[in-house]
Amino acid sequence: MNPVKQEPRATSAETQRGTRDTLSVTDNRTGKTYELPITHATIRALDLRQIKVDPKEFGMMSYDPAYGNTACCTSKIAFIDGDAGILRYRGYAIEDLAEKSTYLETAYLILYGELPTAKQLEAWTYHVTHHTFIHESIKKFLDGFHYDAHPMGMLISTIAALSTFYPDAKDIFNEESRRKQTWRLIGKMPTLAAFAYRHTLGMPYSYPDNELSYPGNFLNMLFKTTELKYRPNPTLERALDVLFILHADHEQNCSTNAMRCVGSSHVDPFSAAAAATAALYGPLHGGANEEVLRMLMEIGSVAHVPEFIKKVKKGEGKLMGFGHRVYKNYDPRARIIKHIADQVFEVMGKSPLLEIALECERIALEDEYFVSRKLYPNVDFYTGLIYQSMGFPMTMFPVLFAIPRTSGWIAQWEEMLLDPEQKIARPRQVYLGSEKRAYQPIEQRKPARP
Ligand code: CMC
Repeated sequence: MNPVKQEPRATSAETQRGTRDTLSVTDNRTGKTYELPITHATIRALDLRQIKVDPKEFGMMSYDPAYGNTACCTSKIAFIDGDAGILRYRGYAIEDLAEKSTYLETAYLILYGELPTAKQLEAWTYHVTHHTFIHESIKKFLDGFHYDAHPMGMLISTIAALSTFYPDAKDIFNEESRRKQTWRLIGKMPTLAAFAYRHTLGMPYSYPDNELSYPGNFLNMLFKTTELKYRPNPTLERALDVLFILHADHEQNCSTNAMRCVGSSHVDPFSAAAAATAALYGPLHGGANEEVLRMLMEIGSVAHVPEFIKKVKKGEGKLMGFGHRVYKNYDPRARIIKHIADQVFEVMGKSPLLEIALECERIALEDEYFVSRKLYPNVDFYTGLIYQSMGFPMTMFPVLFAIPRTSGWIAQWEEMLLDPEQKIARPRQVYLGSEKRAYQPIEQRKPARP
């Protein structure tokens, strides 16, 4: 237990001036007052444990299902101001990175805290590029999946399988080993993703091309057919790179929390990344972009939008791609994505669903239901339209999220491992079940449910 600093009580003059960084809590059951230290506008949940009626009691806990107001770590990686619609990686504005940086450069920043020098970037790019190949046996796993297997299922399984190929990854407190697993994970994610895609099409796998950029090589592994050398369209290559930058990290979201939580058991990073990818698969997280497109197709036409919005307001479904736990303003990534969409549509042609999306946004931004709940478009609202126009099937959308988020997952995992305050994640519960009772023989039992 974290020892509570026994500060002398605040004098009334100090309290009035607000000069003490403490919180006074009075337990009305006992009349006792406790003074809890405040650091970074936060009190420590363990400091509540001293609050009890009877000394034999366990002590007070805080109850916070879904961690709505609980910080589980300190972090120096990503900063979000949800009310102002601000996102920064290591202090750099997302808008600047999207305009001036590349995904690999941003991944380096996220992982190592600073933008790389030209020499560092060259070495980093070399190492990631030279870890893009996967063991031939992984193709055999992929071959075992049905032709209609969801690529996220294939991705989760093959990331987990990587841990069996690299047992050295278990050496998690060895910095050299962590660096190598980082090259491997970031290098191999696009290959696993592209191979899963090719498997669904029944097409031969297209191997990595080290002369291409990170997104260019990914496009090559996805779409190369009979040409001797695949040359990605520069607009699409850059659009994909920017989308990767926008998805690289987003502090303590569901999948990052999974990475940290699973990693806190000291399992290897491939197993933890497989868990994080599974968390990302859900429709409330990385699966939302796929759901947005399904929703737009279901709406079918601009004329049907008002009727659909009415249903959402009655609680019959959600406006997918809207709302966020942290952003109570326009998601800054969504703004950049709208701009990319225009560039991609210029090359590939406009998606017929765009007009429906724009109409949903127009109505929602004026409607009291959405305004009062501060529901704005999030990162997933327009990405699906871009991906579709680039030729990706819907099932690949969450995969396109998982590839860049890998850098954020690894950075957060490493930060957790090196944080002396962190231990194996093990939340508490409030037990509301039966009291102790005698075992019932089967003939005396009544069905609990029909
Ligand atoms: N459409 C309609 N109503 C909504 C929506 C929505 N998309 N999102 C939230 N609400 C309502 C919700 O019903 C609730 O209403 P009430 O107060 O009357 O009960 C209120 O807004 C607050 O919502 P909440 O569910 O308590 O908010 P949350 O912070 O738990 O959920 C969310 C955040 C992102 C899961 C949710 O907004 C949602 O389900 N959105 C749609 C799915 C989506 O787009 N997910 C992608 C998130 S961004 C990328 C990522 O994280 O991967």
